[in-house]
Amino acid sequence: MENFVFQNPTKIIFGRDTEGQVGKETKEYADRVLLHYGGGSIKKSGLYDRVVASLQEAGVDFIELSGVQPNPRLSLIKKGIELCRQHQINFILAVGGGSVIDSAKAIAVGVPYAGDVWDFFERKATIREALPVGVVLTIPAAGSETSPASVVTNDDGAWKRDIGSDLIRPKFAILNPELTYTLPAYQTACGVADIMAHIMERYFTRTRNTDLTDRLCEATLRTVIKYAPLALANPTDYSARAEIMWAGTVAHNDLLGTGRIEDWGSHMIEHEISGIYDVPHGAGLAVVFPAWMRYVYHEDVNVFARFAARVWDVEPDFDHPEKTALAGIERLKEFFRSLGLPVTLGELKVGDDRLEEMAAKCTARGPVGNFKKLYKEDVYAIYQLAR
Ligand code: NZQ
Ligand code: ZN
Repeated sequence: MENFVFQNPTKIIFGRDTEGQVGKETKEYADRVLLHYGGGSIKKSGLYDRVVASLQEAGVDFIELSGVQPNPRLSLIKKGIELCRQHQINFILAVGGGSVIDSAKAIAVGVPYAGDVWDFFERKATIREALPVGVVLTIPAAGSETSPASVVTNDDGAWKRDIGSDLIRPKFAILNPELTYTLPAYQTACGVADIMAHIMERYFTRTRNTDLTDRLCEATLRTVIKYAPLALANPTDYSARAEIMWAGTVAHNDLLGTGRIEDWGSHMIEHEISGIYDVPHGAGLAVVFPAWMRYVYHEDVNVFARFAARVWDVEPDFDHPEKTALAGIERLKEFFRSLGLPVTLGELKVGDDRLEEMAAKCTARGPVGNFKKLYKEDVYAIYQLAR
């Protein structure tokens, strides 16, 4: 096991009707806030009205910025930064999914910074200050509600890049599983793929003697595998929605990565797809992850055989562990397919023409991943396997 520091300070408020506490929680930090949200699902569901009522009741003034698109754009973030400066806003309230939260986080680091906020994403500047951010989560997926990351697409050139700093971990995150009842089936499935990917990026490690975190990863994966079909079959099944929502946070709050070197190659490979083709991140991962697995499994077959046996109940073939490993990869792919997700680049309408460019962009800052370091040729080969 590797040495580690684990500190996740985000206050989680979980359960039915908890969005009614948003005013009180926000008031702890500010009297004037930016209410940030997406394309309108929160208005349709009535959540917007409840959030506004709670803010008003707590005496919190707000201005709003809506219109965050999935794969959040830099242009709207710049608008948000200007708005906050004009109105002396010092708190951002994100009501939505990963895209809204990530947009809020980028605004939060951009307001106190004199330069171009994209500098942080290009590693030209270091984050030293950020406005506090609070969250009401509407989709379990990205895990951004407790993560130190923000992933943003620069409209100019379709560069999807990330930043990371403990300063942008949200102060609080309100998680009411009932808010996810209105999710379209495809979005639920994309969220599930992302949650599973966050666990698998940590599970597939070369670090030895990490039994507790192996088991925690397996338990969280098994929970999602059990409840995802139930949530799809009955979107208002509270228990299923609750298990998935909590799993989404646990998957990405760093606990499952403690003591081990994490991978993250598949995420980097996927970001080039959603950055250019504007597909949901989870759908991109459902395509990339099984291909990544097939490309790297022979580097350490036993880890993949263990994944197959413990997560998917594949009968181990002790004489041929690679057969067990491959059966596990196939089960994952079948599971994604059963949720209605794409498993090939063709299904995402990603052709061959830009694969080389994507592999070059993905590795522009050096190789990606840790289970096996992946250079441009490797990433290209993985895109080929995903066709
Ligand atoms: O915009 P609205 O109208 O709200 O609709 C959204 C959006 O179209 C809809 N939606 C959300 N909650 C809903 C709902 N529709 C009905 N009922 C609800 N309750 O779902 C669509 C997708 O929303 P989005 O926020 O894009 O989804 P997600 O949470 O999957 O976020 C994806 C983004 O997060 C990034 C991804 O790259 C992607 O850009 N990630 C962020 C991470 C982080 N910050 O730590 C880590 C992840 O690996 C990921 O990269
Ligand atoms: Zn992800």
